Amino acid sequence: MATAQFSLRALLLPILLLSPAATARSWDYIIVGSGPAGLVLSDRLSATGKSTLLLEAGVASTYASGGREGPSWLRDSNEPLSRFDVPGFFGAFLAHPDGHQCPDIPFPAGCVLGGGSAVNSALWFLPPGGDLPWVDEEEGEAVAKARKKIPGTTNPSMDGKMWFPESFDILGKMMRSLGWSEVDANKEMDRKDRCFARASFGNTDGERGGPLTSYFLAAEKRPNFEIVYGARVERVLRTAGKVVGLEFVRDRKRETVNLAEDGKAILSAGVFGSAKILWQSGIGTRDQLEIIKAVKGDDMIPETEWIDLPVGYNLQDHPATYVVFKYPGVGTAYNYSGAYENPIPEDAQNYLQHRAGPLASSNARISMWHEIKGSDGVVRTLQWNGRTGTAGNFTGPDLLLLTNYLTHGQTTRGRIGLTPGNLNHKILESPYLITKEDVDTVIQSFQEVLEGVKNVEGLELLLPDLATTTIDEFIRNYSLPRGSSHWIGSAAMGSVVDYETKVLGMENLYVVDASILTGATTSNPMGAIVVMAERAAELLTQETWGCDL
Ligand SMILES: Cc1cc2nc3c(=O)[nH]c(=O)nc-3n(C[C@H](O)[C@H](O)[C@H](O)COP(=O)(O)OP(=O)(O)OC[C@H]3O[C@@H](n4cnc5c(N)ncnc54)[C@H](O)[C@@H]3O)c2cc1C
Ligand SMILES: *[C@@H]1O[C@H](CO)[C@@H](O)[C@H](O)[C@H]1NC(C)=O
Ligand SMILES: *[C@@H]1O[C@H](CO)[C@@H](O)[C@H](O)[C@H]1NC(C)=O
Ligand SMILES: *[C@@H]1O[C@H](CO)[C@@H](O)[C@H](O)[C@H]1NC(C)=O
Repeated sequence: MATAQFSLRALLLPILLLSPAATARSWDYIIVGSGPAGLVLSDRLSATGKSTLLLEAGVASTYASGGREGPSWLRDSNEPLSRFDVPGFFGAFLAHPDGHQCPDIPFPAGCVLGGGSAVNSALWFLPPGGDLPWVDEEEGEAVAKARKKIPGTTNPSMDGKMWFPESFDILGKMMRSLGWSEVDANKEMDRKDRCFARASFGNTDGERGGPLTSYFLAAEKRPNFEIVYGARVERVLRTAGKVVGLEFVRDRKRETVNLAEDGKAILSAGVFGSAKILWQSGIGTRDQLEIIKAVKGDDMIPETEWIDLPVGYNLQDHPATYVVFKYPGVGTAYNYSGAYENPIPEDAQNYLQHRAGPLASSNARISMWHEIKGSDGVVRTLQWNGRTGTAGNFTGPDLLLLTNYLTHGQTTRGRIGLTPGNLNHKILESPYLITKEDVDTVIQSFQEVLEGVKNVEGLELLLPDLATTTIDEFIRNYSLPRGSSHWIGSAAMGSVVDYETKVLGMENLYVVDASILTGATTSNPMGAIVVMAERAAELLTQETWGCDL
């Protein structure tokens, strides 16, 4: 222990001298990362009046946060909008990442204020009981808080018109023919078996809104809250189990910040980001820590201080499988990727003047849920999201798409780790449909849902093409990418953090983001993550009553 303290002091001292400004004060709360979880915490923790620092690797995003980026037509309009405010640019992040893609993550991931919530389609579904077992008792209250901040809307265009209604109308009709019920997804959250709903968005007044508006702007106003942009945290500085500060790189320079004597450091850097900070802080399995040691040498915390926890395990995503339909009269799909640089002029004007039209949301319009009990006795949920659009080789007119996700209850678990040398993230074990029961469940859901095609006159199934393959074969041989960017796991509650979100073996280090979820969420994850962070904020701000594992 003494060795660790000495080597840490030796390390800290020269840095202290180099950057006195960054270490000028000690913080009660230091949050790392501003995804939806980090934004909820920024608001709720700073509301206590305690000094709260947010360290974010990226830059400001929405106009209100100071972001000014966008295609020239948007900037020239002089509207208070950046690219991150326009919901219809959901596809622009993939086509024009412009430096906001996290450099060390080989999957879509926003390293910018808001994290995923700055670049996603803003689908907003509050979680059913059961998504967050550890908050169940209190979940009601956390859900109510999240709903009050982000009510969500099923009609995001401010002209009140439902744009691109075909996927709801036609696929909803198909589901009704099978006896499925229409529900209000954010009022009847527990109805997830053979139900469908209009897609719900977290947008506000025709703009992205969501956590970036509802939580961040409240925090930013408080004098006890500060954010440092461009600060990529490398590790926590600790003496045995106590964090004394954090080390980050900004403008290629290393800086440190100090945590107050009874302060708390909270990692909200996402499934990949938080795992990497833990590893770089000497917390994780030996194989990963040795990969870092090989790069950092003596700059790494000594092996005697390493804490062996299964960081990187328990990884899940929502494995996606596409279905393509044709229905006469749907017409040509809206070109969302083209709308970033070359929007249809009327649509641009409609958006700029009224926050209305195609650019006021993505074109997702229907969400459906199905529960199936597997031969292993486990109940799994599947979510199906529908929209108009083109997909892969299907580029003609009149197309409707459904994406099937296997969600809550899936039993496949993957694992992430680091690449030796460059320390980029990689998948060590696939999280996609490995267990037999997971595969069987997807096949069963397809069989039941696609039965409905024959009930809707004019509806034609293009993929899978059941003239040349069976559903069973289609699912088993599926070769398109399965990723949906709905990652959870990697610092699971119960094995890496305790039920108060504290890292096992640490006194004042916490993880609050998608990485601590123990199982995939029932729907697109942002709603569940916000609810989880609301509950975590309650725990972080109340006196601890010692409920370690
Ligand atoms: C393209 C895309 C579309 C999606 N669509 C939807 C959708 O429509 N609906 C939905 O519910 N979900 C959607 N998701 C998923 C959703 O956005 C994520 O589940 C959610 O953002 C995860 O939240 P988080 O708080 O765990 O962290 P993240 O959102 O991953 O944020 C992590 C933050 O930490 C920062 N960070 C990382 N490392 C460091 C470091 N070392 N130092 C400092 N800062 C760091 C990052 O810059 C980022 O701001 C989508 C995701 C993507 C990528
Ligand atoms: C969409 O628009 C972009 C840019 O204008 C163009 O390159 C692309 O071919 C268009 N896609 C379709 C399917 O029309
Ligand atoms: C498109 O068609 C080609 C040729 O038939 C095939 O090799 C490819 O896998 C298809 N791509 C998709 C996305 O279906
Ligand atoms: C599916 O895969 C199996 C085994 O790899 C193969 O025999 C079969 O021809 C494939 N079917 C299709 C439709 O590609």
